[in-house]
Amino acid sequence: MCGIVGYVGPRNAQEVLVSSLRRLEYRGYDSAGIAITGNGRIGVRKSAGKLQRLDDVLAEQPLTGNVGIGHTRWATHGVPNDLNAHPHLDSSGDFVLVHNGIIENFLPLKEQLLEEGHRFRSDTDTEVLVHLVADEYDGDLIEAVRRSIGRAKGAYALVVMSSREPGRIVAARMISPLVVGFGEGETFLASDIPAILPYTRSVLVINDGEMVDITPDGATVQTMAGEVIEREPMEVSWDAGQAEKGGYPHFMLKEIYEQPGVIEETLRGRLQPDGTAVLEGVDLPDGFVAGLDKVWITACGTAYHAGLVGRDVLEKALRIPIEIDYAHELRYRDPLIRRGTLTIAISQSGETADTLAAGRLATELGSRMLALTNVVGSTLSRDAADILYTRAGPEIAVASTKAYTAMLIGTYLLALRLGVDRGTVTRDGAVQLAGELRALPDKANRVLRMDADIAAIAGRIAGIDDIYFIGRGLDYAVATEGSLKLKEISYMHSEAMPAGELKHGTLALITDGTPVVVVLTQSHLYDKTISGLQEVKARGANVVAVAYEDDTEVAKYADHVLRIPRTIDFLSPVLSIIPLQLLAYHVAKELGHDIDMPRNLAKSVTVE
Ligand code: AGP
Repeated sequence: MCGIVGYVGPRNAQEVLVSSLRRLEYRGYDSAGIAITGNGRIGVRKSAGKLQRLDDVLAEQPLTGNVGIGHTRWATHGVPNDLNAHPHLDSSGDFVLVHNGIIENFLPLKEQLLEEGHRFRSDTDTEVLVHLVADEYDGDLIEAVRRSIGRAKGAYALVVMSSREPGRIVAARMISPLVVGFGEGETFLASDIPAILPYTRSVLVINDGEMVDITPDGATVQTMAGEVIEREPMEVSWDAGQAEKGGYPHFMLKEIYEQPGVIEETLRGRLQPDGTAVLEGVDLPDGFVAGLDKVWITACGTAYHAGLVGRDVLEKALRIPIEIDYAHELRYRDPLIRRGTLTIAISQSGETADTLAAGRLATELGSRMLALTNVVGSTLSRDAADILYTRAGPEIAVASTKAYTAMLIGTYLLALRLGVDRGTVTRDGAVQLAGELRALPDKANRVLRMDADIAAIAGRIAGIDDIYFIGRGLDYAVATEGSLKLKEISYMHSEAMPAGELKHGTLALITDGTPVVVVLTQSHLYDKTISGLQEVKARGANVVAVAYEDDTEVAKYADHVLRIPRTIDFLSPVLSIIPLQLLAYHVAKELGHDIDMPRNLAKSVTVE
């Protein structure tokens, strides 16, 4: 999730671009850069690190001119460094481009362009685009861009300019966001509204499949086929803070709603039609997977809860023992991690001290360590032999939501890849699983429509001293994450346990009105879980069930039912967690807590 900006008008472009990028830093910044055209040339300044580094570079070597583009990067391909920072120039230096998204077919395109003599400076997918534009240019920038994106596959919001056509910027959108801002004799482009709010509130959202041609006099919007589109801009009433949250009251709610897109992004380009998973960065040696006899999983907090799902998923797919432990436990218990095993270390930030230590211990003991992480170039990614990046974009709220579902997708992709490699996942099974994975974003969107119903239930739970989350199998794994979500932002005591464990003690705590959340999606465990639900109901519990929308039984026993679209049970955690995230959010909102920054907690626990 990068931030891109563009400007044409009478102002000093450098000032407009840098201040606009600063308002997009919440979209992530591991590097930043700007390009400005003037006197027939394109000047570029860019550097790894925060925007302040770019400021320092510009203080030494400012750029003059009033047409420019800029970018803050959240890396998906290529570690954060000066060369991989955007903007990117073509070989001639006459074309420059910034991009937010993922070009799935950039490697074959790069090979083709290299054969044609193009010289590349970075290892990003983005740089391929600017060479394509140069390759396709025959005197009209928008036509060159049109032909270029016709050859590229994937998600993009791209902004291009050329010294051969001063005063003009061309942009195109497919999946990644892009807006145009209109001023007096000046026009703006940005990934998101906050960037341009200080200059204009007249904003036009560019839709998927549209291109836009901007000059100081305004913008022409057209389809990829060249049909001109007339659409009135909207007047934005948000303040800057609201705009950063996309109009949502909290980053946590915005990130919950981003999950369908995050699931799609994390899957993008990784599922082949025949169901195999292509995982760049996972380069297990030949024979390693076939000879694998054990997998370890280690993580903390929400990442650990994703690992609990991963353990069941991988054990089912690979048919070998999978052992999971908290990183802060594993590192100190002298574990029998042997050479030739695989250790999956899961961490959104890639900086959690205990997870780093456990991953290093596994490596020292001869296990091959694979990092499942959301941050390109994080310490964990640099420690690992193999890396599978989630593509959740920057997660601002301390309470992790979209990173969790992205981690789940990561474990399913690993199960698919390793299971097919071992022959324990059949081709048909792989095709079915891949098809069901692709259907998840739409199903997740349908779950989000329950938001208002959940807000109503939250009012009845808020402030009650103890709440319990129960389930069996994968439903228990989800219950652990639902419990953590609630406790860390409502400050209410909540705990999760396997439904079968209740009668071994905790049932003594269930009394009249005790809220109990039951996750109920695993068909082979359904009757058992229903009996657990009846146990708590008989003691007066107020039962909230999460179940499939076509479940006709559960309503007989539960006080409230939060329904999710049916999927294969194996994948249900991706959907069943969403009502629990929304429940936690609305309870905390009811209690008036600081939802994005809950007390005592940090986004990443980089100390032990
Ligand atoms: C979850 O909502 C918390 N923010 C916390 O448990 C977090 O998941 C844990 O600290 C692990 O962080 P990591 O994924 O960055 O390693």
